[in-house]
Amino acid sequence: MHVMSDKIVILTGAGISAESGLGTFRDEGGLWARHRIEDVATPEGFARDPILVHEFYNARRAQAAKAQPNAGHQALAQLAAQHPGEVVVITQNVDDLHEKAGSQGVIHMHGTLSGALCSACGHRWQAELVMQPQDSCPHCAGTTTRPDVVWFGEIPYAMQTIETHLAEADLFVSIGTSAQVYPAANFVQAAAAAGARTLEFNLEPSAMATRFDDCRYGPASKTLPRWVAEILG
Ligand code: APR
Repeated sequence: MHVMSDKIVILTGAGISAESGLGTFRDEGGLWARHRIEDVATPEGFARDPILVHEFYNARRAQAAKAQPNAGHQALAQLAAQHPGEVVVITQNVDDLHEKAGSQGVIHMHGTLSGALCSACGHRWQAELVMQPQDSCPHCAGTTTRPDVVWFGEIPYAMQTIETHLAEADLFVSIGTSAQVYPAANFVQAAAAAGARTLEFNLEPSAMATRFDDCRYGPASKTLPRWVAEILG
């Protein structure tokens, strides 16, 4: 049952961008079937071979730049625009398809492909489409620049803000994530503990499926527009 003033907190994963042509990580033939996490998604891997890591993210940045949001992203933007209560989108994704669909204030807990970060001074700026190890920081001129994405072993961004949203949620919705990476996999428990109703959208049951009050399986480009139409009436 849906209340007009409900605060809806949404977590998205790679599955919502799958139908836009961006690969997921753990599905058949996913990114982690073709690359070793320790080589391309850890600080140690970057220290060992920054060229390999920049090439991995340059390829994903180029793909994301060409990708278009699908009906799933658009449904969430429509929900936020028309639902009277607050709608918060937290994403594990580093693409900008939520923004391209019109969502605003998206919380990128794993950073973004469009961001560059200087490991020396902490300065952040808009990344070039192609980043290279010799790029220098526009602020301190150092050459310890990296993609502004959160690697395994690093702290996700905006966790305090996220925890506040989860504590205030009336409805927590997880979309397109296998729920195998923490802390995001625990969000359903935090929201439920604070009294939220919980709903999972995925292609198949995630690792946390049993924690949800309700689950709807199928491609997000089909399930989300149907759900948003129900909500908005
Ligand atoms: N519609 C809905 N769900 C889909 C679709 C689709 N069209 N296609 C795939 N899925 C689901 C799959 O069933 C799977 O459970 O999306 C999920 C994707 O899971 P993962 O590939 O593990 O991606 P994600 O959960 O986002 O990974 C979390 O892990 O590697 C790190 O930092 C990386 O942010 C990423 C995090």
